[in-house]
Amino acid sequence: MNGSKRTICGVGGTALAWAAAVALASGQGAPPAQIPREVLAENVFKNVTVLRGISADEFMGTMGIFSAATGMNCTECHVDNGTWAGYALDDKAPKRTARRMVTIMAEINKQYFGGRQVVTCFSCHRGGNRPRATPSITQLYSPVTVDELDVLLPPALPGTPTAAQILDKYLQAVGGAQRAAGLTSYVAKGTYTGYGPENFPRPVEIWAKAPNQKIVVLRDPMSGDNVTVFDGRSGWISAPFRPIDVLELHGAELDAARAEAELTFPANIKQALTNMRSSSDFINNRTVLAVQGNKGNALVTMYFDEESGLLSRLVRSTPSPVGRVMAQTDYADYREVAGLRLPFRWTTSWFDGRTNFEMSDMQTNVAVDAARFAKPGPPKPYK
Ligand code: HEC
Ligand code: HEC
Repeated sequence: MNGSKRTICGVGGTALAWAAAVALASGQGAPPAQIPREVLAENVFKNVTVLRGISADEFMGTMGIFSAATGMNCTECHVDNGTWAGYALDDKAPKRTARRMVTIMAEINKQYFGGRQVVTCFSCHRGGNRPRATPSITQLYSPVTVDELDVLLPPALPGTPTAAQILDKYLQAVGGAQRAAGLTSYVAKGTYTGYGPENFPRPVEIWAKAPNQKIVVLRDPMSGDNVTVFDGRSGWISAPFRPIDVLELHGAELDAARAEAELTFPANIKQALTNMRSSSDFINNRTVLAVQGNKGNALVTMYFDEESGLLSRLVRSTPSPVGRVMAQTDYADYREVAGLRLPFRWTTSWFDGRTNFEMSDMQTNVAVDAARFAKPGPPKPYK
């Protein structure tokens, strides 16, 4: 499919402009991947009138943006009648307003910004349902607490190491390029805790096989497992309480899953991304060196601790018609496993959730059956 099919309905001619904005924002515009008709949001869901021409998994990302940008829960816009069919109803005014907003947003970018996606839901809403029209005097004189950096890295200051230098230092920090190249598989077990009412530990199991196969299984004895798989070509998420039981990944979401699987193996770090550039930044008051690059239509930013050289944060970002979908993983507690330093704790945060992982057991270079990475079945209760 070419860019012109990824339309925002009712906004004639916006599609190409949006594709151009994506190319701009990601620095290097790979053409949108073929999206099979049967997985387009308008064919998977019952009542999609504006966010058409994107895959169902990309569509779910836009719902995360809606929630994060406006601070509204799913059910403030959707009818909660105990089934997903309620989500297709148009009974609630905010849902109808949100649809109109998609058109307004696309129109502003098209009319006044040459089609670049510079205004999004978040530009006006800033996390609230009613955008403020007046600057707040209180805020004006309050200390700034939020991280003001956006998706694209700031230009490198003179003297910032190059991407190649930062990645070489990382390889050295984990145990050397040769040891990294010797890592053929990885099996980890531990616990995860969710966010909010879900904050009690449950088992997690991870299997990964070089160069790029990976499966993460979050066990849940009550509601069923949450499984994310990338088999080297395709990716899926099987999880309970989702509108689609087994969601197949497409487009930039698939590109991001591929990058994440590849970057599980330190030896891939220099080849996983294209168009790499470096910069520097701060995380928790520590200087970090950043490397940003592309994987197809996904943008990936890696932050390395300046002192230790280890990876401390990985951010992946994918374009959507209403802004970029972000997910961030923060790594900690690097320990040595068979001569390689690997993280034992990490936190993954995205627009509508956060999960903490803590590994208790990690083995490398054990045999992993290729069948592990098969397409998962629908979620079923654990034992
Ligand atoms: C600010 C309002 C808003 C919020 C918040 C919101 N949605 Fe939506 N949702 C919409 C709109 C508008 C549509 C229809 C889009 C269209 O017509 O293109 C929609 C459509 C959907 C659909 C397709 C339903 C069907 O069968 O037609 C699903 C599923 C969905 N949303 C899930 C969610 C989930 C899950 C959340 C919370 C993470 C969420 N939404 C948050 C406004 C919202
Ligand atoms: C150019 C600024 C702007 C952009 C961009 C924008 N909005 Fe709005 N939005 C507003 C304003 C202003 C209001 C309040 C309108 C009013 O009071 O009549 C509003 C109201 C809303 C409401 C109603 C809230 C309620 O509690 O009833 C929803 C829902 C909403 N916007 C969703 C979105 C979504 C989703 C997007 C992105 C697709 C978006 N908006 C983009 C300015 C914007």
